[in-house]
Amino acid sequence: MNKIGVKNILARKGKQKITVLTAYDFPTAKLVDETGMDIVLVGDSVGMVCLGYESTLPVTMDDMLHHTRAVKRAVKHALLVTDMPFGSYRNVGSAVKNAKALTHEGGADAVKLEGGQGVLSEVKAIVRTGIPVMGHLGMLPQSIRELGGYKVQGKTKEEADRIFDEAMELERAGVFSLVLECVPMSLAKRVTKRLKIPTIGIGAGADTDGQVLVFHDVLGLESPVSPRFVRRYADLSQVIRKALSQYRNDVLKGKFPTAKESFSG
Ligand code: KIV
Repeated sequence: MNKIGVKNILARKGKQKITVLTAYDFPTAKLVDETGMDIVLVGDSVGMVCLGYESTLPVTMDDMLHHTRAVKRAVKHALLVTDMPFGSYRNVGSAVKNAKALTHEGGADAVKLEGGQGVLSEVKAIVRTGIPVMGHLGMLPQSIRELGGYKVQGKTKEEADRIFDEAMELERAGVFSLVLECVPMSLAKRVTKRLKIPTIGIGAGADTDGQVLVFHDVLGLESPVSPRFVRRYADLSQVIRKALSQYRNDVLKGKFPTAKESFSG
């Protein structure tokens, strides 16, 4: 399979849906990549699903670099996008410096950052350096304090129009795709129809150009929240618990290891 680039993602608009899943470490990124997923996202959701934080706010640049490097070693096919963590794109200078670190040192092909009007200068500056940027509108986990919780955004006409306008502005600023998180499907459809770049939905209905979910949610792997928009394709927590209990019992009962699992001589 050939390596996917930003051009391939842009060319998919209106032709074939774009598949996106998060990954945070080498073995799981390898599994995701081998399925032929188009984009692997090292989301700052790593903070909640891997590091045990209650939100994405404590995630640092060091965390994102560490996990991006691990994922990079595994991904041979998908476009590798990494989230810029909270506080890493407060102004143009820090945005460019940190986007460069995630791509040049971490190995990401592109970065993602949250917001509209407030991040346009940062998006433009990063794009000017040649680093592709994915936008993110709707429910913004890094703005959870301002939004007052993980709630659907864009329900009123005023809010929907603001998100629509910000999507246009982000496209003009140069983003190559846009995540729409937790917005009414009518709004996601309207934005998708209007933009030339692909939209990637999460909790945004079926009319976006692609879909993204979190690895642990899809596999039922101890994810802290299970929102309505998630479809769970496996119950890995159950599988893992059963296997680990069997191992523990075998050790306690002297059933592991056997001679076959030991060395003689
Ligand atoms: O951090 C993340 O995993 C994300 C996706 C849910 C879009 O931003």
